[in-house]
Amino acid sequence: MRLLRYTALLVSTLAPLAAFAAGGHDALSCSGCHSIHAAKAEILFAVEPNKSATNRQNQPVMGMSALCLGCHKDGGMATSISGHMSHPYGMDQVNPKVAKVPGELLRNGRFECLGCHDPHPSNPNYKYLRVDTAKGQKMELFCAVCHPAKADDATASAKVALFTSMDETGNRVLATSDGGSPAPARKAIKSPAKAKKLPAKKSKTKAVKAAAEPVAAPAQ
Ligand code: HEC
Ligand code: HEC
Ligand code: HEC
Ligand code: HEC
Repeated sequence: MRLLRYTALLVSTLAPLAAFAAGGHDALSCSGCHSIHAAKAEILFAVEPNKSATNRQNQPVMGMSALCLGCHKDGGMATSISGHMSHPYGMDQVNPKVAKVPGELLRNGRFECLGCHDPHPSNPNYKYLRVDTAKGQKMELFCAVCHPAKADDATASAKVALFTSMDETGNRVLATSDGGSPAPARKAIKSPAKAKKLPAKKSKTKAVKAAAEPVAAPAQ
């Protein structure tokens, strides 16, 4: 049964595999992750979600993270991400004493891979991270988005743009984090000039709705 599923996955990933020589998602093409008429999961996902992965709390990984782990697993086509040796993900709750996650970074209230990564080829950042870390040289800017109490003052108060590819009005800034300030101070979506021209109803996109979700870690 497992072998069967594995074989099916292998076959289903062969096409993108052939294309990934250059590395990263850029070489996957859109159809490596999305299938137009034969999708296997939500958001027209082309890859079978990984149903056997567990997170550090030994809960099954669900939602969007299971999609990533369809490829990023042992024996999969991409670097395996171990749930047990990794930073937490695939959680339906966040302990506000441990992390202060901007609401925009949650998916259906859950903390997923997508909280830290935007996987689309348009993301210019190192390792598809939400934050520009100067190729990993300034990783603290990224960590401080959710762990500002751990960062030095300058880092914690630095304004960092969170990259998003999920807004077709041309805005690629999901929010700006200013570290130390309380969560509600994060402006949901700061649209550059372009977005202003659009009628109000256009702004009711999924991304905006996600931005309106309550912030996981209320200031206490
Ligand atoms: C590595 C996998 C991957 C690749 C490659 C990829 N996508 Fe996506 N796509 C995703 C994920 C994951 C989401 C959900 C993102 C989120 O919620 O922030 C998504 C969301 C989307 C959405 C929005 C769906 C919705 O319901 O709002 C569209 C449209 C889309 N992708 C189109 C594309 C196009 C066009 C390309 C090629 C240029 C592409 N994707 C390449 C993984 C991928
Ligand atoms: C269709 C298979 C597939 C899916 C689904 C997929 N990836 Fe990937 N990913 C790859 C391949 C192939 C590479 C390049 C080889 C490698 O690094 O293993 C890659 C590389 C990466 C890298 C490293 C990029 C770099 O510059 O080194 C990150 C980060 C990443 N993926 C995150 C994600 C996240 C987050 C998701 C879910 C939103 C996801 N991937 C879904 C196939 C996939
Ligand atoms: C808390 C934030 C965070 C979460 C959650 C997260 N990642 Fe990452 N990920 C990172 C960072 C930071 C790096 C870059 C590490 C480095 O190169 O220093 C990274 C690197 C990667 C890489 C590249 C590994 C390599 O060897 O180059 C892949 C692939 C990846 N992540 C996939 C995922 C997947 C899949 C998930 C969910 C199952 C996930 N990440 C969840 C922060 C995160
Ligand atoms: C997008 C938000 C986000 C970012 C960015 C982020 N984290 Fe986290 N971090 C979390 C969440 C959520 C948890 C788990 C909270 C809980 O236990 O409920 C966590 C937990 C942790 C833990 C505790 C793990 C344990 O064993 O309990 C450490 C350590 C940590 N993060 C380090 C980092 C470092 C280092 C970075 C930067 C490379 C980083 N985080 C970036 C959200 C984030």
